[in-house]
Amino acid sequence: MNLIFIGPPGAGKGTQATAIINKFNIPQISTGDVIRAAIKDQTPLGKKFQEYTNKGELVPDKLVNSLVEDRLGKKDCANGFLLDGFPRTVNQAEALDEMLKNRGHQLDHVLLLEVPDSLLIERITGRRSDPETGQVYHLKYNPPPENIKTRLIQRKDDTEEVLKERLREYHNKTAPLIPYYEKAQLLRRIEGVGSIDDIQKRVFETLR
Ligand code: AP5
Repeated sequence: MNLIFIGPPGAGKGTQATAIINKFNIPQISTGDVIRAAIKDQTPLGKKFQEYTNKGELVPDKLVNSLVEDRLGKKDCANGFLLDGFPRTVNQAEALDEMLKNRGHQLDHVLLLEVPDSLLIERITGRRSDPETGQVYHLKYNPPPENIKTRLIQRKDDTEEVLKERLREYHNKTAPLIPYYEKAQLLRRIEGVGSIDDIQKRVFETLR
């Protein structure tokens, strides 16, 4: 199963991705996670990424495309993959089409998680993650266990101010992927308002 997850920042892509990869036994390829790991390690590329992510801007296509191309070549993608947060521009989508064509693969579904902008501020500002396990929580909607609360961290780009720019980038550069994948008859719209469990049910119904 070769899947793409798209949707605005904080829509719940990462949250739903966990259940999907466990069910289909495929790896989750999150460009956001790869970028954050490079920033954490302060690699030369990571330092470059930071200039963009701190402002809520997308990293240049060329850099992200080569990260994904390398990752898709790994053995664990033989059975399929879930791309989370890639592609984010039409240029990236075209590059992905080329990568898959070269490998003789094709996409099965592009899942679009639809959440209105007005709900995203609360989801983003309440998000916390556990640096030890990578588990993502929400202070109100998916509260962490009491005993780990003090070690949780908040992403630098999870502020109201940076979210405004991330949303601008989403509407200007990522939303054009909707007609792109509609035309290819791959787009599956999923209502992203409701509880995490309700949305999970909708995702699995879509994939059935
Ligand atoms: P990235 O990490 O991909 O960020 P994003 O797309 O903005 O998505 P998020 O990770 O913020 O949200 P999510 O949809 O996964 O939500 P989550 O499940 O955590 O990218 C970060 C940056 O990296 C970009 O800004 C860019 O600079 C760069 N980048 C990455 N990929 C790139 C690319 N391809 N090209 C160029 N640049 C790139 O949920 C959010 C919160 O809500 C959590 O706390 C969760 O518990 C909670 N929640 C989830 N579902 C629900 C629900 N149903 N109800 C209530 N709360 C919920």
